Amino acid sequence: MTLALDREKVLAWLSQRVPAARITHILGVEQTAGDLARHYGLDEAKARSAGLLHDAAKYFKPQLLLQMAQKEGLELDSVLEAHPHLLHADASAIVARDEFGVVDREILDAIANHTLGRPNMSQLSCTVFIADTIEPSRGNTASLEALREASVQNLYAAVWQTSDYSLKYLLETRCYIHPRTVLTRNWALQMARAQSPEIGNSTGKSIEQITS
Ligand SMILES: [Fe+2]
Ligand SMILES: [Fe+2]
Repeated sequence: MTLALDREKVLAWLSQRVPAARITHILGVEQTAGDLARHYGLDEAKARSAGLLHDAAKYFKPQLLLQMAQKEGLELDSVLEAHPHLLHADASAIVARDEFGVVDREILDAIANHTLGRPNMSQLSCTVFIADTIEPSRGNTASLEALREASVQNLYAAVWQTSDYSLKYLLETRCYIHPRTVLTRNWALQMARAQSPEIGNSTGKSIEQITS
């Protein structure tokens, strides 16, 4: 059984460490992840807990994020070392466990997976990954509205399209791309197609066919 999270304690902790605009985003992720979980018959309370804590370490300094990752024995690669901010997802899971006593593996994983995703992540992780991008305060562009629509059609297709949305942004802004984002994208596309073979690109070609 999962111990109930002390939401007021989390909000008080966040208010000391996170700017107001980010709190609005966090509450949006809490709500949206919970809504998605309910829609897909998952544990709504777990999704809301993961959403509430997902960005707890968002404003931790790079050096602290690296220290926490090393102490935790997390595998670091060149992209993470150059951009420790990406570690805020793992660090937020550590905060959830150490500050707020969260022991549920699925909640901790959903927090840790919210930025880069992970192949074979749980459906609960998928809800938080998607919610991080589509929660209401992110805006109302046509792309976001399309993602919101997709999010209630097919969970894996929504993860794939959310990954594509992030990848496009990273390419356009000439940012580094962590390889796990690509692995998450391909896994989610594969899962979506396994459920609904008509999903995917219009050609249906594999990468081997396109490059040969
Ligand atoms: Fe985040
Ligand atoms: Fe976030």
